[in-house]
Amino acid sequence: MSAERAAATYRRAFGEDPAVVASAPGRVNLIGEHTDYNGGDVLPMALSLRTSVAVGPSTDALSHAVSEQSPRVGAFSPTGPSRSSAWWDYVAGTMLALGTAGVAPRPLRIAVASDVPSGAGLSSSAALEVATAFALNAWSGGGLDARTLARVAHRAETEFVGVPCGIMDQYVSSLAREGHALLVACDREEATLVPMAATVLIFDTRTPRSLRTSAFAQRRHECEIALRAIQRNEPAVRWLSRASEEQVRRATMDEIVRKRALHVVRETARVAACVRTLRETGRLAGDSMYASHASLRDDYQCSTPELDWFVDRAQETRGVTGARLTGAGWGGCAIAAGAPGPLRQLADSAMEPFATQYRRRPRFWMSAASDGARVDVLRENLVGGATAMTLNP
Ligand code: GLA
Repeated sequence: MSAERAAATYRRAFGEDPAVVASAPGRVNLIGEHTDYNGGDVLPMALSLRTSVAVGPSTDALSHAVSEQSPRVGAFSPTGPSRSSAWWDYVAGTMLALGTAGVAPRPLRIAVASDVPSGAGLSSSAALEVATAFALNAWSGGGLDARTLARVAHRAETEFVGVPCGIMDQYVSSLAREGHALLVACDREEATLVPMAATVLIFDTRTPRSLRTSAFAQRRHECEIALRAIQRNEPAVRWLSRASEEQVRRATMDEIVRKRALHVVRETARVAACVRTLRETGRLAGDSMYASHASLRDDYQCSTPELDWFVDRAQETRGVTGARLTGAGWGGCAIAAGAPGPLRQLADSAMEPFATQYRRRPRFWMSAASDGARVDVLRENLVGGATAMTLNP
């Protein structure tokens, strides 16, 4: 368990027990890609892989951060940290954002342990931000709810770390529940749990994602151009994802930009279809997943040969019902749906041919939909002065 490892890392580094330990999961998105920042719907689920943070008071005026994974130790000002491009920026940014939500920053010590691989597109950064937000909130008396903490974590990512992502990752990491996918209507920031018993296969192509940040920002920009073009005819359309295909076709815009816009509008419709199927049959709509991947490959142009290779192979595997890239794309992971036996067979049989073709060993995990963030241990409430207690042991 990463919670125990975070506490052990804390003890090793700082010589005493932490005051609070909290954890938050990584995620995969089942469907609804590049719709969140266009005000559309997304359907992610939380993974069983989690990031834990152990937190306690600092003995000087600075905050200090250590990680089980990284030899780099951070020290930063709790009230005015500057961006360092190191992993503790996620912690420092979350502290700052919590400050604006009413949780006064104070010097802390923090130790991190994680099972969410970083750089794989499974939202390790959101898991760290959300776990930090939950820990500091509990430590200061626990006044903020999970939705507010998701927004705080999102502000850390966009305003401090500087990644222009939508709200999906922080929302699902905060609000998910075991056995459920989370439908988020991003224009209203409204989250609904949808029962989902299925296990999904996550296949990590382990491809470098160097293009990801710049290409992501470029796509966002193209979507803004498309929305403005639509609004010239239809001023009432506030979000690209809520436009109709007809409105996209009628507007005057570059053909590349139109392809991006059509992806967003159709993908939003696919989320609704997938949610309907899930509610009616308990299964993921495989056809919608394949259609989503084709649209991301051809219209949004954020796939890679490795991701396409995996999805093609899934399509040829008996008993596998759907597959698509998940997350931003430009490398990272794909998912597949179906019965556990065929999924495992797909993963096992893909390893060697993939490694031979792409000279990289892929990784895979099977995960059911898991719980969102929680406070695992609260030793003492330093603000309220409460006595020792344990939550979710
Ligand atoms: C990244 C972002 C998310 C979302 C996806 C694409 O994972 O962090 O907010 O935009 O890309 O769906």
